[in-house]
Amino acid sequence: MESGKAIWVFGILFFLLAGIEASQLGGGLRKCGFPAVYNFGDSNSDTGGRSAALGEVPPPNGETFFGKPSGRFCDGRLIIDLIVENLGLPYLSAYLDSIGTNFRHGANFATGGSSILPGGYSPFNLDLQISQFIQFKSRTTALYKQLGDHSNRPRPRDFSKALYTFDIGQNDLAYGFQHTNEAQTRDSIPTILDEFARAVQQLYKEGARVFWVHNTGPIGCLPYNEIYYQPKPGNLDSNGCVEPQNEVAQEFNRQLKDRVSQLRAKLPHAAFTYVDVFSAKYTLISNANNQGKLLLILSSFENPLEFCCGSYYGYHIDCGKKAIVNGTIYGAPCHNPSRYISWDGIHYSQAANLLIAEVILNGSLSDPPISIRKACQNPKNA
Ligand SMILES: *[C@@H]1O[C@H](CO)[C@@H](O)[C@H](O)[C@H]1NC(C)=O
Ligand SMILES: *[C@@H]1O[C@H](CO)[C@@H](O)[C@H](O)[C@H]1NC(C)=O
Repeated sequence: MESGKAIWVFGILFFLLAGIEASQLGGGLRKCGFPAVYNFGDSNSDTGGRSAALGEVPPPNGETFFGKPSGRFCDGRLIIDLIVENLGLPYLSAYLDSIGTNFRHGANFATGGSSILPGGYSPFNLDLQISQFIQFKSRTTALYKQLGDHSNRPRPRDFSKALYTFDIGQNDLAYGFQHTNEAQTRDSIPTILDEFARAVQQLYKEGARVFWVHNTGPIGCLPYNEIYYQPKPGNLDSNGCVEPQNEVAQEFNRQLKDRVSQLRAKLPHAAFTYVDVFSAKYTLISNANNQGKLLLILSSFENPLEFCCGSYYGYHIDCGKKAIVNGTIYGAPCHNPSRYISWDGIHYSQAANLLIAEVILNGSLSDPPISIRKACQNPKNA
């Protein structure tokens, strides 16, 4: 009788637990929203850091969405903006920006020109961005203890529940191509990724648990590179992209994916999503080029290697500047940015970012293949 009762109790417990388990797995019912996003990167995800620290981004940047320059090298929103929109969070303020910022739901440490290794185009390399984060965390935590909660500041308990996003590495490759060559740049990849892995481990030590890692894009398809670095016949692919540069980017991505796997094994409580942004961007460019397979929405794009703002043809003028040379106006206003994949020869237009975000946020190009909203349900994070 005693043992019969025990079986009965055990049975009820079993069904209760099974029920909880099912509700966790079924339909994403397990509660796991991100209260904050902390981002590290370069101009691909800089929402105002470089502009605040090193010189304001001029108009017509921002013209499509913000109606004025917003510190972004783009006519509108970047992928990081579309990420926080998707998560129901406000746009990230740049850590380096001292005006009108709000860090309640995260902060952005990305700055235009940044690389993983020090000594590139920007002083704010990844290691420095991580030390800025550590300072940000300790000082806001101290303020919380001293003054209590404040609507512009993060809650200390949110740091371990936040999403940590990375989009960095493109400038390590660009700097390598400019100052050495493809072979040497390829050889430097393990050193670059050692530094990346170190950065992730530092964040882990600080309590970061969920990581979302973008791989690097097809750098050889940036019009700037296509014009300046390697415009030799025979090294362009069918889309007009510099193939040897894209091959180095692909090698970087293969090794990055391996590092992420190693980090998964090494950091037992962390969840990593590796996101193949390269494929999203490259597919967009090839589709726009491939008249036969045009998707409806892409049919409005110009040649993918053209860009809207600034000029590198004949006379180099950066986006936002203007010059009249021999009667020709360079840097004339940029009409119809939504018809271009590239905004200024280096950075993608908002129209392109919207299409890229559409395929990367739902997990279709991710390892593991989960959407960003469910990245916190990544099994390793249980
Ligand atoms: C402008 O004209 C001068 C003289 O004809 C020529 O040398 C120069 O290359 C031209 N510059 C550009 C940017 O076309
Ligand atoms: C993700 O979105 C793209 C573009 O809308 C779509 O083609 C793809 O099927 C979606 N994948 C998943 C897993 O939902």
